Amino acid sequence: MARSTLYLAFFALAAPWLYDRYQALSHIYQNRPGSLEPIYGFKSHEIKFTDRLRNCEDVILDEKNGVAVLSCSPGRDKWNSVMGVFKPGENMERGAIYVYNYAQLDIPDGETLNRVTFEGFDDGDFHPLGIEYVPEESRLYVINNAQSGSVIEIFQFDAAAHSAQHVKTVRHPLIYTPNAIHAIGEDKIFFTNDHYVPARTSTILSQIETFAGIPGGSVVYMDLNDPDSAKTLAHIGFANGIGMLNSTTLAVASSSKPGVYFYDVTPEHDLKYKYYLRTPVGVDNISVDSDGKLLMAGHPYALSLIQVAEARANCVLDSEKEEEKEACGCGSPSWAAEWSEESGLKELYKGHDICSSSTVARDAKRGVGFVSTLYDRGLMIFRE
Ligand SMILES: *[C@@H]1O[C@H](CO)[C@@H](O)[C@H](O)[C@H]1NC(C)=O
Ligand SMILES: *[C@@H]1O[C@H](CO)[C@@H](O)[C@H](O)[C@H]1NC(C)=O
Repeated sequence: MARSTLYLAFFALAAPWLYDRYQALSHIYQNRPGSLEPIYGFKSHEIKFTDRLRNCEDVILDEKNGVAVLSCSPGRDKWNSVMGVFKPGENMERGAIYVYNYAQLDIPDGETLNRVTFEGFDDGDFHPLGIEYVPEESRLYVINNAQSGSVIEIFQFDAAAHSAQHVKTVRHPLIYTPNAIHAIGEDKIFFTNDHYVPARTSTILSQIETFAGIPGGSVVYMDLNDPDSAKTLAHIGFANGIGMLNSTTLAVASSSKPGVYFYDVTPEHDLKYKYYLRTPVGVDNISVDSDGKLLMAGHPYALSLIQVAEARANCVLDSEKEEEKEACGCGSPSWAAEWSEESGLKELYKGHDICSSSTVARDAKRGVGFVSTLYDRGLMIFRE
């Protein structure tokens, strides 16, 4: 075969992939520092608890009781098994779960936020990522990317008393790079693994997997009381947030593609691919509000997020040294959007008021929402 024919065959095969990467990377380029066009679709916002909360990636709402549950990992500065930062030291801060009563107006403001106390659980190696809360069953599930290995923790959770009684730790070969959980009751869950190559194994290969858009992440079903029931249902690139739009449709975010994949869930807990929504920004986590709208948060400029993650390894809070203080900064923009089949994609926010947004959740009836972040202080609370 003539060499030119070979080249042609190669480009024909690679063209869709090149086009796809071109699309993904050109969006990142458009949001580079100095050229990001801000979007502000809220009525107002405030950033609360900057003195108490840091690196709170996840926020889950119990709209009925007006309660938000937060997963915070200040230790992510030194230990980030998703992005590949492994500099644990003796003073590494412990992860924590918080309960925020955002709707009980009779509670004094200073007492609305409480750190959850654990019973029967040693939080010495606690690095929480995705959490899931099932208020009807008082169950709290936490992905713990512990130094000793990634596991899923189950707690019996009393939100009103902000205490969590440990039930058990689940380890399994299919829990290898766990990121987000969606529970469907009775300890049955869907969860994502973000990469095929864990950053713990090779940070470089894991990053190549991300930027090449290789579908190495996975969606797994597991009955936590029968871990052998676990099965891999789908493979997508940098699988991240996961949630159900209604009783049949599962949505899974891909941070690298970027976009959101929709599947039909069969009674056997298998997935049938339905469609794919391309997003202008790499989506991190997703949530579904009580109106059935899909909410997405993400990172408009992935490169600045990587910079923040790498700099944080050298961060010393309250340090005298200028470079150690600077390493604690956060300069990665945030993005939030909503989607429904009827109205399509609507961007709600893009800007720098808060850094590195990871989750947006909304109490549709009360007209209040929350944006949590990978690396900033506090919690953004917006009104609509
Ligand atoms: C994202 O949010 C959902 C709830 O919408 C939660 O179940 C999941 O664990 C979250 N986590 C991450 C880190 O993506
Ligand atoms: C669930 O949501 C999807 C996406 O909006 C929609 O296509 C589907 O018809 C909905 N199914 C039910 C049972 O409401």
